[in-house]
This record gives sequence, structure tokens and C-alpha cells, in this order.
Amino acid sequence: MLYYFTPFVLACSTLLTVSSVESKREVSICKQTGSYQILNTVPITQTNQTSLTFSVKTCKHARIILTDNTTSFRPAYIIIIGLWTKHQIVSRITTCFSEKFTRCLYSSIETPSILSCSEFRTFWVSWNTNITFGQGDIIGDNITRSEMLYNEVVIDFIGIQTVSGDNDKWTFNSEINDTIGINAAIVCEGEDETTTLPDIPPNCTCSCIPSGNHWEYLNDLNLTTEQLYLHLKDRLSDLKASISINLKSTRIAKSKLRCADDNRSVSRFAGVIGSLVLVAVASFIVYLDLVGLVIKS
Ligand SMILES: *[C@@H]1O[C@H](CO)[C@@H](O)[C@H](O)[C@H]1NC(C)=O
Ligand SMILES: *[C@@H]1O[C@H](CO)[C@@H](O)[C@H](O)[C@H]1NC(C)=O
Ligand SMILES: *[C@@H]1O[C@H](CO)[C@@H](O)[C@H](O)[C@H]1NC(C)=O
Ligand SMILES: *[C@@H]1O[C@H](CO)[C@@H](O)[C@H](O)[C@H]1NC(C)=O
Ligand SMILES: *[C@@H]1O[C@H](CO)[C@@H](O)[C@H](O)[C@H]1NC(C)=O
Ligand SMILES: *[C@@H]1O[C@H](CO)[C@@H](O)[C@H](O)[C@H]1NC(C)=O
Ligand SMILES: *[C@@H]1O[C@H](CO)[C@@H](O)[C@H](O)[C@H]1NC(C)=O
Repeated sequence: MLYYFTPFVLACSTLLTVSSVESKREVSICKQTGSYQILNTVPITQTNQTSLTFSVKTCKHARIILTDNTTSFRPAYIIIIGLWTKHQIVSRITTCFSEKFTRCLYSSIETPSILSCSEFRTFWVSWNTNITFGQGDIIGDNITRSEMLYNEVVIDFIGIQTVSGDNDKWTFNSEINDTIGINAAIVCEGEDETTTLPDIPPNCTCSCIPSGNHWEYLNDLNLTTEQLYLHLKDRLSDLKASISINLKSTRIAKSKLRCADDNRSVSRFAGVIGSLVLVAVASFIVYLDLVGLVIKS
């Protein structure tokens, strides 16, 4: 087993050295085992480390455990970020004592969209005077939750766990390797994130031309009537979608939704009429533009 394992570890650290020179000296951890993966080899009580910053990208929630027992994981502090419960998304600090006490102490706060499937989110954890975690990479800023420390819970090892599978990724500044000695077995080569981040603004096509007839570009496109119809149909449903999203997110619309139970058929009727009016208005605008276009050409 060791025989096969060693070249793998060596390969990993080689790749790591290369990638840490090129990028922002980050260590990526992306292997999933189902249980906690222990990050450090040197116990925290020997390094006096009191904080950690990391970035994580996951479609479900992320867990960090701080414990001195890597088999029973008790006693421990467990930080859970972005957990989907029945009605909301929460983050919490859970304090668990010895295995004899099956109950843990929970301290939760609602944190909608704290994590993302497609982009890294950065957090910090500190265990200096309290056990605290927050958002961003500045320790002490944007505190999400803070709880008191207990003498019974000794922090020696940091474990991480994500639950949504291969998509999950964690990165740590590789400088922490100097103090905590990162467990090489869980490190993997970082992917080139620039190809997966979706935040590139879309290319402006000719339909964005700001002046003149909005539909003039259709002249250059030699479309059949059928193609023209399909093209306009898409634009129209885009328009309709953007209008109805705005409608839903206004505060008045929200409060209307809340009392929908009392007069449901009436409000549904009003909703249908409203949508019809909006579609009619949008169609009318498109119609006018098209008439202009036809007259022009
Ligand atoms: C950690 O703190 C203890 C007590 O303050 C000190 O004796 C020890 O040298 C420190 N260790 C490191 C690695 O800084
Ligand atoms: C971890 O917990 C298990 C089960 O309670 C116990 O047998 C073991 O001795 C503990 N290990 C350490 C290092 O405390
Ligand atoms: C803290 O949150 C505010 C508001 O969300 C944000 O503008 C700021 O950049 C955050 N600070 C850090 C250090 O992430
Ligand atoms: C430590 O945690 C306690 C309990 O949640 C809280 O009342 C207190 O404000 C925290 N202290 C700091 C410095 O964050
Ligand atoms: C951590 O440091 C050790 C010794 O300095 C080095 O051999 C190892 O490659 C480093 N690992 C990572 C993940 O940077
Ligand atoms: C914009 O279009 C050009 C040419 O088709 C392409 O090379 C470029 O990658 C596109 N940019 C984006 C952000 O899609
Ligand atoms: C437009 O398409 C039709 C049929 O595909 C073709 O006969 C005609 O020459 C095209 N006109 C131009 C200006 O490309």
C-alpha cells in the first residue's frame, strides 16, 4: 500500500510546487472521502495557530471540525456553513462534548446564498478568545457567528468536509503549510479556475446597437419568415421573463403573495390579467418597431 502511495504523494507535491509558484500560492483540496479530511499534521497546541482562512466552492454545505480526536471526532467544535434546513439556509457553530453527551450545543443564524456552486467564497475561523467565523479574508471582519470556548474541547486538528461530491473544492493559502504542516495525502492539483468561473460578461452582439432602429440588424440576417418568427419569439419571452421577475420581487407584489390565501381566485385572476397586459404592451412595442422596419425597407 505504502509502495503505491508514495509516488502519488510525491507527484502531488511536485504539482503543488509548480502551481503555487504560478498562482497565488494556494493549496487545493478536492478529494472526497465522505468523512472529515484532516488538514494538518502538526497539532495546533504545538503551533499556537489561532485562525485559518480558506475558500470553498460547493453546491451543498461545508463543514469544518476542530477537535483533538481524529477517530471519534469528540469533543469538537463543528462549523457548518450554508446548511439547507426545511425553511432556510443556516450557518452554525456546534459545540459537542465527550461521546457520553449525545447532545451538542447549536448556535445558528440564517445565511441565504452564503455559498456558491460556481464561485469560491472566502471565510475565516478564529479560536483565540471565542470560536468565531466570518466572511472574507480579514479575520475579525464580517462576523457570522461567535461562541464561547470550553476547556473540555481541545483544538489540535482541523478537519474539512463537503457533501456535494466532485464539484466541491477548498483552497488554502499554502503559507499555512509552514505552521500546521498540510497533510499531503489530501492535496491535489488545482484546476485552472479561469476556465470555470462564469463571471465573464456576455459578448455584445449587434442587437445591443444603442441608436437607430432596434431591429435594424435583422436586415443583415437574411432570415426566412419562420426563422424571423422564432428569433422574435425568443426575444419576446426574454422580455416577458425580465418583466415578471421584477414584478415578483417588488415589495408590494411580495405582500400580495402573502395574503393570497384569502382571495386566491381574485388575485390569480388579477395576476393573469396583469401578465396579459404586460405581454400585450411588449408585443405592441415590437409590432410598432417591426412596422417601422418594414416601412423603412
Ligand atoms: C506556543 O506557546 C507556548 C506558550 O505560550 C510557547 O511556550 C511555545 O514556544 C509556543 N510555540 C510556538 C511554536 O510558537
Ligand atoms: C478518541 O476517542 C476514542 C473513542 O472515544 C478513544 O478510544 C481514543 O482513545 C481517543 N483518542 C485520543 C487520541 O484521545
Ligand atoms: C464585509 O461585508 C461587506 C458587505 O457585504 C463587504 O462590502 C466587505 O467587502 C466585506 N469585508 C470583507 C473583509 O470581506
Ligand atoms: C463570544 O461569544 C459570546 C457568546 O456567543 C458572545 O456573547 C460574545 O460577544 C463573543 N465575544 C466576542 C469578542 O466576539
Ligand atoms: C509543506 O512543507 C513541507 C516541508 O517544508 C514540504 O515538503 C511540503 O511539500 C509542503 N506541502 C505543501 C502542501 O505545501
Ligand atoms: C466574443 O466574441 C469573440 C469572437 O467571436 C470571441 O473570440 C470572444 O471569446 C468572445 N468573448 C466572450 C467574452 O465571449
Ligand atoms: C437570402 O436567402 C435566400 C434563400 O436562402 C437566397 O436565395 C438569397 O440569395 C439570400 N439573399 C442574400 C442577400 O444573401
